[in-house]
Amino acid sequence: EAIEKGGYEHFMLKEIFEQPRSIADCMRGRINATEGRLMLGGIRNYSGALTNAQRIVIIACGTSWHAGLVAEYLFEDICRIPIEVEYASEFRYRNPVIREGDIVIAISQSGETADTLAAIELAKSKGAIVFGVVNTVGSSISRATHEGAYLHAGPEIGVASTKAFTAQLTVLTMIALSVAQQKGTISDVKFRELLVELESIPKKVAKALESDGKIKEISALFKDVHNFLYLGRGYNFPVALEGALKLKEISYIHAEGYPAAEMKHGPIALIDENMPVVFIATRDSSYDKIVSNIQEVKSRKGKVIAIVTEGDVLIPKMADFTIEVPATHEALMPLVSVIPLQLLSYHIAVMRGSNVDQPRNLAKSVTVE
Ligand code: G6P
Repeated sequence: EAIEKGGYEHFMLKEIFEQPRSIADCMRGRINATEGRLMLGGIRNYSGALTNAQRIVIIACGTSWHAGLVAEYLFEDICRIPIEVEYASEFRYRNPVIREGDIVIAISQSGETADTLAAIELAKSKGAIVFGVVNTVGSSISRATHEGAYLHAGPEIGVASTKAFTAQLTVLTMIALSVAQQKGTISDVKFRELLVELESIPKKVAKALESDGKIKEISALFKDVHNFLYLGRGYNFPVALEGALKLKEISYIHAEGYPAAEMKHGPIALIDENMPVVFIATRDSSYDKIVSNIQEVKSRKGKVIAIVTEGDVLIPKMADFTIEVPATHEALMPLVSVIPLQLLSYHIAVMRGSNVDQPRNLAKSVTVE
C-alpha cells in the first residue's frame, strides 16, 4: 500500500497532487488548441441528438452532482440549451417529464452508484438518449448509457472525490465546447480562447498546489472550530458546495456551502467572531458583488479565508487570510479554485486525526439506495 501511495501519507493527498497529470490525461488526444481541434471519440453516433437537444437533464450524486452544477452554467452560456441538474435519488422517485429531444447526461466516478443507475434506466424507459461521464471503464453506468466520454483520471481510492471532480469538469467543458461549436452558438475566437485556456489548466493547477504549505498553516488555526461557511457566486457557487462537502466528509466539521448573495437570507445570522467563512472570490464578472459580501462578513467579525486571483490587492486588505490561484477564464476557474479547498479539508482532517481515506459512515461507491 505504501508503494501505491507513491510516497504520500494518504491516497487523497496523492490524488490531489496528481491533478495536473489526471487533467492532462483527460484531454490527451481529445484537444489540440494550436489547431483549434476538439474530438470526443466516445460521443459520435448520437452527437447530432446532443447538438439538437431541446433540454439537457444532468443526473448525479455527491461530488459528481457538483460537477453537473458547474456544467449548467457553461452549457447555458455557450450552448444556449436549458439545463436541469438533478439528484439522481430525487429524479428517479418522481414522475419526471422527459420529452422528445431531451438528453440526459449522467455523471459518476465509480459508474456503480445505485441511484444514478436507476435514474438512467428510468430516463431510458421514457425515451431519453443518455450520455455517461464516467471514470471506471466497463462499469455498470458506462454500459447502461447510449454513449459517453470516460474521464481517464485513473483509479480514485480516497473516498472523498478530488481528481475525479476536476476530470469531470474537464470532460463536461469539452462536451459543452463541442456542442457550442456544432450549434454555432460560440464564436471561433471564444472557442479557441477557451480551448487554449483549458490546455493551460494542468499548469495552473500545479501552481495552485504550491500553496499547500500556507494552507496547512491556516488549517492549524481552524482545526478545532465546529462550523464553516463556504460562499461563492456564479461558476464558483458549486465550488463552495464542493468545498463544504469535502470538509464535512473527512473532518466531520459541519460546513455549509451557499451562493454568496443568499447569505442575507439566512446564514448571515450565524456570523460572529467564531465563524470562519471561506470565500471563493476570484476575479470574474461577480467580483465586485463578492467583495461587498466579504465586507458584510467582516463587519460582523467573521473570520474570512479568501481564495483570490493572483495579484489581487483589494481582498487581502479585508480578509484574514488569502490564498492565491492563477487567473483563468471564469468558466474554467472551478478547476483551479477547488484545489485549495481540497487541501484545506485534507489538512484539517489529518490534524483532527480522522481516517482521511476511509471516513466513518461513507463509502466510495454507494451501490445501495
Ligand atoms: C459517494 C462518494 C462520493 C461520490 C458519490 C457519487 O458518496 O463518497 O465521493 O461523489 O458517492 O459517486 P459516483 O461514483 O457516482 O460519482
